[in-house]
Amino acid sequence: MNTLKIKLVSFILLFGLGLFSVKAQEKIDQVEALLSKMTLEEKIGQLNLLTPGGGIATGSVVSNNVEAKIKAGQVGGLFGVAGPEKVRQAQKIAIENSRLKIPLLIGSDIIHGYKTTFPIPLGTAASWDLELIKKMAETAAKEATADGINWNFSPMVDIARDPRWGRIAEGAGEDPFLGSAIATAMIKGYQGTNLKKPNTMMATVKHLVLYGAAEGGRDYNSVDMGKVKMYNQYLPVYKAAVDAGVGSAMTSFNDIDGVPASGNKWMITDLLRKQWGFEGMVVSDYTSVNEMVAHGLGDLQTVSALALNAGLDMDMVGEGFLTTLKKSVEEGKVSEESITQACRRILTAKYNLGLFNDPYLYADESRPEKDILSQENRKLAREAARQSFVLLKKHENVLPLQKSAKIALVGPLANNKNNMLGTWAPTGDPQLSVPVFEGFKNVAPKAKIKYAKGANITNDPDLAKRANVFGTRVEIDERSSETLLNEALKLAENSDVIVAVVGEASEFSGEAASRTNLSLPESQKRMLTELSKIGKPMVIVLMSGRPLTIEDEFALPASILQVWHAGIEAGNAIADVVFGDYNPSGKLTATWPRNVGQIPVYHSMKNTGRPIEADNFQKFKSNYLDVVNTPLFPFGYGMSYTEFGYKNLKIQKSQIAQMEAVEILVDVTNTGDFDGAEIVQLYLRDVVRSITPPLRELKGFTKVFLKKGETKTVKLTLQPNDLKFYNGALEFVAEPGDFEIFVGTNSQAELKTSFKLN
Ligand code: BGC
Repeated sequence: MNTLKIKLVSFILLFGLGLFSVKAQEKIDQVEALLSKMTLEEKIGQLNLLTPGGGIATGSVVSNNVEAKIKAGQVGGLFGVAGPEKVRQAQKIAIENSRLKIPLLIGSDIIHGYKTTFPIPLGTAASWDLELIKKMAETAAKEATADGINWNFSPMVDIARDPRWGRIAEGAGEDPFLGSAIATAMIKGYQGTNLKKPNTMMATVKHLVLYGAAEGGRDYNSVDMGKVKMYNQYLPVYKAAVDAGVGSAMTSFNDIDGVPASGNKWMITDLLRKQWGFEGMVVSDYTSVNEMVAHGLGDLQTVSALALNAGLDMDMVGEGFLTTLKKSVEEGKVSEESITQACRRILTAKYNLGLFNDPYLYADESRPEKDILSQENRKLAREAARQSFVLLKKHENVLPLQKSAKIALVGPLANNKNNMLGTWAPTGDPQLSVPVFEGFKNVAPKAKIKYAKGANITNDPDLAKRANVFGTRVEIDERSSETLLNEALKLAENSDVIVAVVGEASEFSGEAASRTNLSLPESQKRMLTELSKIGKPMVIVLMSGRPLTIEDEFALPASILQVWHAGIEAGNAIADVVFGDYNPSGKLTATWPRNVGQIPVYHSMKNTGRPIEADNFQKFKSNYLDVVNTPLFPFGYGMSYTEFGYKNLKIQKSQIAQMEAVEILVDVTNTGDFDGAEIVQLYLRDVVRSITPPLRELKGFTKVFLKKGETKTVKLTLQPNDLKFYNGALEFVAEPGDFEIFVGTNSQAELKTSFKLN
């Protein structure tokens, strides 16, 4: 069938089904009517996204003469502008002073909450709670739209299996199944069911594609990956976002098979638009069009034409489109039709947001006071934080603490507002955050708590300087290390229990914050070692934006609670867990290696032709001479104050047909002394297939709350697509044969059953 026929048939079908609504026609009419009036220059103008500066910007570019450009019809959208008054002012310039009165998109990076900052995304992912994640996105949308924003550059869904990469903090971790579910929940939360509502905003899936697989974990670095791995492991998350109806997509900085994403036609047009059916707009990342000059693909005119011809619609701050596309049309390097098409997608996004009906829809001055930083939002932030914490180690039932205990609260992050919010929270205010010391006093007013800093976050002035780009995240105390340490030791000696709050500064992770050493800085390691010698019960509260290498600390006689960067309510939430008002239930969504040399290490690795048995070293087998293959903490790992037992794993059928779903049942019992929630996980192994299978892959999970002593039968369902994979010819198939199922508390679960696919 030729394309015309296909279009005709689909048109008739849609009409027949009554789906081609009057509204859709209205949209097309309105957008086409506008397009027909636009000059080439005005169309090019719509493809230009600027940031006026003075606000939030990630790069060094600040656009000039923004007002004049809006008047001249040279701007399609702005970011880094917030507040209903400012947004109204910007829209007014567009509506009253530009020839065609086209309203502006107003973008922003709302990565983990707007003013009510939630935990970093790697933390909220550890809750495995899709309803909670959706609720956070809804709340972020409510706050951001109250402040004039209609377009969010989130969710970041990039699969990350290299914790050296600082941006692992911004995503959901290493797994495509969980990552896809989280991406879907976030998009539904941001966009709601009707983008025209003033409290919903357009979401952006980013960064397409493979950004998280940068070589060596160094930000912006090249990516080299075969198609089978790409389709099976890295692409499903972006596709899930498209399936969830995301309004826009952002290209990444890296190259894919030698062509940077922003100029990669295979990626933007063939994969995203044709294979996945994406109909929204595609925006570049910050100056990523211009950066193709440094990549070695030609001058600005050449790379801008490359990007447009690849299918990119909007150029973020680089102004390559604005300054060169007209010339490229004149020289026959791009067609006017391609520019019209890009402009059409941007105008359609504006239509979808309701901006043509009311350009001031998101400029309601009465909203910020009631919608931003409400008690309800802060309550949600506290709940989200508690659910994100992961208990990494229990030592002699030290946790939870008595609310009357005499506590030595020590460490550089124990009383530090500047590092609670975490990376890429540019709209949040660190001064509004609750530090741990304050949270302890709020939750346990009768406890006798004394605080000492004990150590600097780092004693390395260069590291401190680099972490301080967005404010003073790292202060190097003028007092000597000895003085700081002695103060902490003295407190510790006079207490019942030591709580040491240590880890990374917010800006040790995030964009352009890759590290090759993932241990705690020496200053903090020393403090922990010395404290542990005192012989008092000890709790390590660990903050970080990524998996760290903590074998040394794991060997200390202490319990360890991982709290990420927990957001505005950090201190209160940490206190809730430490004092037992809340039993921790978070599970890691990225594997924690023993050392940096083990990277990459993740749960869905393959067997190889020379697997080892358990962690025994064997010559001529796939292992290292100096470290075992297993990580320190596997994917899905996390403890609770209570214990959970798994029994009676049953599968509904031992043979199933193609396209049949299958139910799995398991009894989970709370066998310990506290009520608590458990995240039950299901892993699948396709035993034999036409391309080498991973040893196990996550294919199901559910969170269940159990009172102490209680047993519940948990049901998990494998859907037909869960058995499928992309084969060597990139067909999505399920191959007949044996499958094994493992169900349990983390990715090393041993309880097993099996079935056959006919
Ligand atoms: C980041 C994007 C972000 C953009 C705009 C870039 O540096 O890679 O994730 O959306 O800046 O702030």
